[in-house]
Amino acid sequence: MKTVVVYYSRFGTTRTIATALAEELGAEVRKIQAVRECGFMGMGFRSAFGIRMPIQPMNLDFTGVDRIVLCAPIWAGKPANPARTFLQEAKIEGKVLAVVFSSGGGETSPALEAIRKLVAEKRVDLTFLGAIVTRKKDEAQLRAEAKEPVRKLKSQQGE
Ligand SMILES: Cc1cc2nc3c(=O)[nH]c(=O)nc-3n(C[C@H](O)[C@H](O)[C@H](O)COP(=O)(O)O)c2cc1C
Repeated sequence: MKTVVVYYSRFGTTRTIATALAEELGAEVRKIQAVRECGFMGMGFRSAFGIRMPIQPMNLDFTGVDRIVLCAPIWAGKPANPARTFLQEAKIEGKVLAVVFSSGGGETSPALEAIRKLVAEKRVDLTFLGAIVTRKKDEAQLRAEAKEPVRKLKSQQGE
């Protein structure tokens, strides 16, 4: 099953998780980059109020890809805005969309609900692989924890 791991990361923890996931899955990695990053207050404000953050040009074509694993941090209870912009712009109709959040340990259901709404028109097969709490964890710990969503994905898809 051809898989692409797509991630957004502001401070690097989600990148570590995404690259570990991609290695386990033998998947291509695509990075979402904001046109302009902002500070902590700006991120929280934009997330809470759903203010669009444009993303830099990237490959949004998933022709021939079966599933996309999206890794995104949670900001103020919602998926980080650049990941939301990606979901609006990407051509992911008919694909499996598996979501992994990185977080500080807060609620994940509002963030998942936000993703459900964003892709409601896209006929994606949405699945949630869980959240990895990143606080005070080094790269080795994050990479080890990235094995659990891979296990979940493989068992869901009968691999
Ligand atoms: C502006 C901001 C808001 C955040 N809000 C939440 C939140 O509501 N719930 C939560 O569990 N973690 C929250 N976090 C923690 C991040 O989701 C977590 O640190 C994540 O791993 C950061 O990913 P990164 O290192 O790839 O940027 C927030 C972090 C930032 C910077």
